[in-house]
Amino acid sequence: EPLLSSKHVLSGLTFTITAGPTREAIDPVRYISNHSSGKMGYALAEAAVKAGAKVTLISGPVQLPAPAGVQMIQVESAEQMHQAALTAAAQSAIFIGCAAVADYRMSEIATDKLKKGSESELQLTLVKNPDIIAAVAGMNKNRPFTVGFAAETRNVLDYARQKLLNKKLDMICANDVSKPNSGFNSNQNAITLIWPLGELDLPVQPKQQLAEQLIALISQHYHALEKK
Ligand code: PMT
Repeated sequence: EPLLSSKHVLSGLTFTITAGPTREAIDPVRYISNHSSGKMGYALAEAAVKAGAKVTLISGPVQLPAPAGVQMIQVESAEQMHQAALTAAAQSAIFIGCAAVADYRMSEIATDKLKKGSESELQLTLVKNPDIIAAVAGMNKNRPFTVGFAAETRNVLDYARQKLLNKKLDMICANDVSKPNSGFNSNQNAITLIWPLGELDLPVQPKQQLAEQLIALISQHYHALEKK
């Protein structure tokens, strides 16, 4: 049955959603990144707008058009996404971190293009990026209801449960990205939604349809918590 029956059930609710990859520059012409297409995060933003919510979408570099009715913030690096996310999160009821944020960046970005040397090996020194969603979930003023994703290729549910606890999230979407028709860049996805007191399997389906279910479920849990 449809979870979001009427069009404006979420009117008055503000979401911040992150989507896509981040790019960590190595030098002026090269970067470290991943295969996130932005499809899942953009579908979430579209579903939330369709349900009447106000949405800020913070996006890394992707090939998708901005969804209608969404306030877009375009970023490249994890540090830029971090800054944009903290500002937008403080004005949102719900934060969803769907971006595939690079865990590490170069300790120093070369100002000139690195030249190929005679050595057969090249070592890059990386430093840890800020954990954006952990920072949002740890805000002590205006903390939004915080929902993460966990992209895993093994021990998917265990690692996702650990991330829910360690990052102090309200809910997490466990995403097995080793399966076909799932995860990075595909048009379909399957996830297990996990919260402290329960879990729900959402089977393989188009990302748009999955996004509508997720927005409905997240909003239900948010409202249940608000009523306490
Ligand atoms: O973009 P698509 O091609 O549609 O693919 C969708 C997706 C596979 C990218 C998406 O469904 C997904 O799983 N997104 C999370 C990807 C990820 O980086 O997961 P993670 O397990 O490494 O990170 C866990 C959580 O912490 C995520 O909410 C992530 O946004 C967040 N994080 C991670 C690192 C960091 N430095 N800051 C963060 O906020």
